[in-house]
Amino acid sequence: MRPELARVVFDEVVRWQSPVQTFFRTAITDVDLAGTCIPEGGKVLVFLGAANRDPDRWGEPDRFDLTRDPSGHVGFGMGIRQCVGQHVARLEAGSLLTALARRVGHLELAGEPRRHLNNTLRSWASLPVRIRPVN
Ligand code: HEM
Repeated sequence: MRPELARVVFDEVVRWQSPVQTFFRTAITDVDLAGTCIPEGGKVLVFLGAANRDPDRWGEPDRFDLTRDPSGHVGFGMGIRQCVGQHVARLEAGSLLTALARRVGHLELAGEPRRHLNNTLRSWASLPVRIRPVN
């Protein structure tokens, strides 16, 4: 396995799966968006998952692709209120994936994955895996 890919893997996963699928914003003034007026106080439901697979931004957006540069995805939001914990998340995921890649020679599904159903969050209730350590 290739531990040096850990950071790219994490950001490509966040782009591709968008663990936080949606959140709301409130317009603080009238805003014209592509010919539609969003009035002051109007609520906007932002679909991060759709933006992260926008074909105008990403080539073959539905493909999980470790050769692409996933930076610029909006899986952590965007702007002044973007995820304040994203660097912690990257650090944790980087440590975990790097350790796994060093110690695990083979990893495969060991059962049927089950989704955790939630209107906003995309995650697993159960994801059984079987691992074989590096020889
Ligand atoms: C893969 C992991 C994570 C994902 C995908 C994620 C995603 C997000 C998203 C989409 C937002 C909303 C951003 C916006 O409104 O523009 C958010 C906000 C936030 N996240 Fe995360 N997050 C993750 C991990 C974490 C961690 C580990 C922490 C804490 C250590 C954290 C703390 C926060 C906080 C405090 C906010 C609110 C920021 C604000 O409103 O100013 N997140 N996150």
